Amino acid sequence: MKLLLLGACIAAVTAEYTQIHIALAGDDGSGNSNGMAVSWQTEEDTPTTVVKFGLSPDDMSMVETGTSSTYYSTYDHHTVLEDLAPDTKYFYSVGDGETFSDTLQFTTSPEGGDSVTFAVWGDLGLVNGDSTREYLVQNKEDIDLIFHLGDVGYADDSFLHLGCMLRFCYEEKFNEYMESMQPIVSEIPYHVMPGNHEADCHDPACLFSAERRDKLSNFTAYNSRFRMPSEESGGVMNMWHSFNYGPVHFVALDLETGFPGAAEEKRYVLKCGGFGDQLTWLREDLEEAVKHREERPWIVLGGHHPMYNGGMVDPKMAAAIEPLLAEFGVDVFFTGHVHSYERDWPVLNSTTVVKSYSNPGIPTHVMIGGPGNDEMTGAQRRMEELLEQHPGLDPSRVSTQAWFDSLEEVNRDMIAVTDMTHFGIGIVKADMESFNMQYVQTTSGEVFDEFTLTK
Ligand SMILES: *[C@@H]1O[C@H](CO)[C@@H](O)[C@H](O)[C@H]1NC(C)=O
Ligand SMILES: *[C@@H]1O[C@H](CO)[C@@H](O)[C@H](O)[C@H]1NC(C)=O
Repeated sequence: MKLLLLGACIAAVTAEYTQIHIALAGDDGSGNSNGMAVSWQTEEDTPTTVVKFGLSPDDMSMVETGTSSTYYSTYDHHTVLEDLAPDTKYFYSVGDGETFSDTLQFTTSPEGGDSVTFAVWGDLGLVNGDSTREYLVQNKEDIDLIFHLGDVGYADDSFLHLGCMLRFCYEEKFNEYMESMQPIVSEIPYHVMPGNHEADCHDPACLFSAERRDKLSNFTAYNSRFRMPSEESGGVMNMWHSFNYGPVHFVALDLETGFPGAAEEKRYVLKCGGFGDQLTWLREDLEEAVKHREERPWIVLGGHHPMYNGGMVDPKMAAAIEPLLAEFGVDVFFTGHVHSYERDWPVLNSTTVVKSYSNPGIPTHVMIGGPGNDEMTGAQRRMEELLEQHPGLDPSRVSTQAWFDSLEEVNRDMIAVTDMTHFGIGIVKADMESFNMQYVQTTSGEVFDEFTLTK
């Protein structure tokens, strides 16, 4: 009896390692990542933060220690595994030096310009996100990297759901989202950027508590939970960063606070912003990227809010960012925020320059904001209403944003294809000559749209 009690006591203090996820880290000197950041959470702090790893599950003799921190009640752990071999499968396990998680695995960055496949979307939630998660689990062997364009989990919407109206659910729901992603993002590098839903907790349970307001505003939970390679790329926290992967230079942007007139420049529900001079950093980052265009022909930007959507433009974003897109020949600008899919023709200065993806020389804007989240049910209902009101309207030519404006006044010439009634994500295959994107509806696995950029 005594022994049993002791056993129970030990089990209670043994940390559980949850929400394990990875992201590219390090720099091999020629601009490729040669490390991997491994992150997880524990309820209590642990004496050390340790990853053991190796080339086989039976030999994980290498050890790296990391750091832990807390912003509210749980502890976020980040450990960077450095100087890994390229294109190599590693096995790893996280822990406190005494106890460890199950053994997991990842594959490091490819060498040089080897072709890569990445998944891209914004706006994925715990609620309504299962078809996308199931698709990713089934196809994870074929996906090398994930580029998530902000709105990561929708913890701040939790108060809208049963049982969370007055109870504090923000942290619990953020944890549940990260836990639901673990089977995917413990194996595939998960690169994120901020969306408006990362800004703060505005549950009634937060707004009426000075402590929670203070601790859970200004992107704090989001910045603590992830470890993006901003140190390596001169970026800021998890707000903006860049990295190279195969033939692609990726830039993850803060389009919430990071330019004059941004949607949450100084405030979302609570005060936020002031992370630094993103635009100067972006110019320097792109200047460097174009020097290596022979090795990495594709420059891809990601951010949360769209610059173009429904044939309309965000004029402040265009003023701040579009001249850089043009000057440095950015190939694709991926965004989300609006919970649907829209592929545009190459556009500059609100003008459709060419209706072809054969070496257009100016950016193609693709919005992928509908992989599934709790706000999507209403959006789909409104689409049905719209089609009823406008019989004969081609649903593949309508954009969600147009719902809020007069349909007739919107110039939709730049829109190539939209999908507003399904959950979907982008799957991109990039090699030195071509950049092919399939938009996949995740409930059926059907490829609804596809385009190929060539140089
Ligand atoms: C938000 O965080 C950044 C980085 O720590 C800080 O510079 C900025 O002042 C903060 N903003 C507010 C409104 O507290
Ligand atoms: C953008 O278009 C506007 C209106 O068509 C025009 O006045 C302006 O000169 C254009 N700007 C550039 C940089 O081409």
